[in-house]
Amino acid sequence: MNTKEEIIRILEQNSEYVSGEKISEFLHITRTAVWKNINALRNSGYSIESVTNRGYKLIARPDKITPEEIALGLKTKLLAKRIDCYDRIDSTNEEAKRKALAGAPDGSLFVAEEQTGGKGRLGRSWTSPAGQGLWFTVLLRSSLLPSQAANITLLAGLAVCRAIQRNTGCAAMIKWPNDIVIGSKKVCGILTEMAAEMDRIEYMAVGIGVNVNNENFPEELSVKATSLRLESGSFIRRVPLLQEILFELETVLKDFPLHTESLLREYKSRCVSLNRRVGFIRENRKMVGVAEDISPSGELIVRCDDGTKFPISSGEVTVQGIYGE
Ligand code: BTN
Repeated sequence: MNTKEEIIRILEQNSEYVSGEKISEFLHITRTAVWKNINALRNSGYSIESVTNRGYKLIARPDKITPEEIALGLKTKLLAKRIDCYDRIDSTNEEAKRKALAGAPDGSLFVAEEQTGGKGRLGRSWTSPAGQGLWFTVLLRSSLLPSQAANITLLAGLAVCRAIQRNTGCAAMIKWPNDIVIGSKKVCGILTEMAAEMDRIEYMAVGIGVNVNNENFPEELSVKATSLRLESGSFIRRVPLLQEILFELETVLKDFPLHTESLLREYKSRCVSLNRRVGFIRENRKMVGVAEDISPSGELIVRCDDGTKFPISSGEVTVQGIYGE
């Protein structure tokens, strides 16, 4: 814990004023250092009242994503030991890849308040307005095989689903492979990119975008997209949700591949694509069928009307009843 995090913790534990002297004694720093750190905290959005002869009192924490806020109370052991936060960046996935090349360690977290070039799957863009969502990327350097990468992508979806449900009470479901939906609208998308050799993953950048407090969307998105605030009817604090997602991500990664069977069972129970009519493109032809199963390696198994079965591992699969299909 750094000095700013320690000061927040002290102020949080006291509902009354805490004197600068007490803080300086407790942390073995000068009173000037206390004052400087308090000012730095105020600049990052904390509301801290100071009264002569009484000291400091924490009035409100910001809904701003800072390394201190994320680290405080984070339950992970491996993920987010390094945290880079940006007010504005092109894309956290791009940043994660740049930092991966420069040697950033396993579990590094890159979070932005706003993305100017947010990327979606299949070459699409991802709208990432300032302060309204969680736009972040976790860098994984694992000993997993490239063939296991698809599972990691599915597991990331499962982790987000669990965290949303626990934090907001919203019934979050998964549209294969890893769009998170509530009702028939999308609330979160995941873009996994990786650098690998034939038999080794060098790194994976797992980019997650959650629409948290958006109150409206550009017209072309409004039939498809929703936010946690719109679905739950309340303002959602982003940092606790991010902490929960990181914790659940670490949990599913720890359970993989040993507990693949139970993870897959849970994934399937949350997957809205199963047992529905779906559409996909095969050799430039539009095909339709019923999504019957998910294979152990993460493919969607679709049975077409003539009985032929197709294992689908990538591309767009539309689902009847979801996003206005
Ligand atoms: C999709 O559903 O198409 C995937 C969207 C992924 C968006 C996230 S936001 C954080 C990270 N940075 C990006 O540029 N994209 C991902």
